[in-house]
Amino acid sequence: MFEVLLLSSLLSQAVTGRPASAEEIRKFDITVFPNGKGLPAGKGTAADGKEIYKAKCAECHNEKGEGRDQQYPRLVGGVGSLTTPKPIKTVGSYWPHATTVWDTIFRAMPYETPRTLKPDEVYAVTALLLHWNGIITETFELNEKTLPQVKMPNRDGFIPDARPYQKLKK
Ligand code: HEC
Repeated sequence: MFEVLLLSSLLSQAVTGRPASAEEIRKFDITVFPNGKGLPAGKGTAADGKEIYKAKCAECHNEKGEGRDQQYPRLVGGVGSLTTPKPIKTVGSYWPHATTVWDTIFRAMPYETPRTLKPDEVYAVTALLLHWNGIITETFELNEKTLPQVKMPNRDGFIPDARPYQKLKK
């Protein structure tokens, strides 16, 4: 019985389905790769990002990216702390690629209204976070060409696991 239902539902899907349009695919096709592939054209500086941050991010991440109440992650600081007994992991101290900061903000922030920021706004708040982390100056223009070239402090901190690959015993 189940198979019959499944088959008929598959058949009706086959009949009523249609290929997704280019526009529908584009809305989901937003991945930005570490090397910058997938970044849309746009630009912004830390100075441009201040107002956007105040209006759309500070409520949770605090005035200067300090985070809040253990609940909203700290976004600033911790550079140089990873090898100490109290590592502070932030996008500045821990993340190896600046492009991932852009991707995360564009796809997932603000937390309650994700995907509402325009590319220029994302370049600007990304620039602000990189600036607060001491990685770029306040007037450095981030765009689809310069962002992939930003070297993050922990870029070389991720190393391949040297242990030999173990096959599972059956
Ligand atoms: C309503 C609260 C809220 C607002 C507003 C908000 N965020 Fe977040 N943000 C969060 C939470 C919660 C997380 C952790 C999400 C998770 O781990 O899944 C997070 C995670 C992040 C991270 C990843 C941090 C990490 O180390 O994993 C970044 C970067 C970030 N937010 C940037 C922003 C920016 C930029 C804005 C403004 C455009 C913003 N957020 C607005 C709640 C918020």
